[in-house]
Amino acid sequence: MTNYVQVAPGDRAEYRDGTIKLHGPEGFEGMRKAGRLAADILDALVPHVVPGVTTQELDDIVYRMTVDAGGVPATLGYRGYTKSCCISINHVVCHGIPSEKPLKDGDIVNIDVTPTLDGWHGDTSRMFLVGDVPLKARRLVEVTYECLMLGLEQAKPGNRLGDVAHAIQSHAEKHRYGVVRDFCGHGLGKLFHDSPEVIHAGRPGTGVELKPGMFFTVEPMINLGKPDCKILEDGWTAVTRDRSLSAQFEHSIGITEDGCEIFTKSPKGFDAPPY
Ligand code: MF3
Ligand code: CO
Ligand code: CO
Repeated sequence: MTNYVQVAPGDRAEYRDGTIKLHGPEGFEGMRKAGRLAADILDALVPHVVPGVTTQELDDIVYRMTVDAGGVPATLGYRGYTKSCCISINHVVCHGIPSEKPLKDGDIVNIDVTPTLDGWHGDTSRMFLVGDVPLKARRLVEVTYECLMLGLEQAKPGNRLGDVAHAIQSHAEKHRYGVVRDFCGHGLGKLFHDSPEVIHAGRPGTGVELKPGMFFTVEPMINLGKPDCKILEDGWTAVTRDRSLSAQFEHSIGITEDGCEIFTKSPKGFDAPPY
């Protein structure tokens, strides 16, 4: 059974009780601003993602931009995480930790940012191509973005989360890619990670029914090889078990009367490479 709760104007909406929050205009306004900041940050990173830059240098830019805009990186101090974003290179699936390691020609890189602004969370990630990237890797990145957008086409009232998942899975598997099951999208708003859990592989007509006012992320991770992941000794970095390349894109959305509003669309049109 799914419990939906209408969020009243002025409600702090910070309780985590397994209910699914249905937000009103106040929530949409807050998410629009947080999502816009998140997208602006990724847009600003574009010229910096080049061979030789360290992922720590990119993290410093994310921190600076977030704070200058009056926000706070939600990842800072989150369950012991100490960086302002996640940067996942090549076979890293997600939650790569920024470090002094420089990017190199041919890398494919996911940068995932989650600024909070007035308490609302804008959670988004994109892939970046570093220098000359082989066709096979570029194709994985392209199809992963298509997966995200095909999933979002299904994000509308009356549909279920299984419809979103199925659209993603069938497109990925048509290309013989593996859809990661170990990590999911999530409800968000005043909370970073809230109900429902948003799967990226599933059966049509199953799962939670979508209703206007729901806020959640869709963030498929697609592997060139098998779906299986493992976590490195640092406790965060998730990698593909078969060391195949992995790609991911993420948007934060709100369900509207007739579809969804994407809060984290790039104002510069840099939603997917080439930028
Ligand atoms: N931004 C990630 C997501 O999409 C979560 C990162 S949590 C961290 O949900 F602690 F690893 F940063
Ligand atoms: Co997310
Ligand atoms: Co994210």
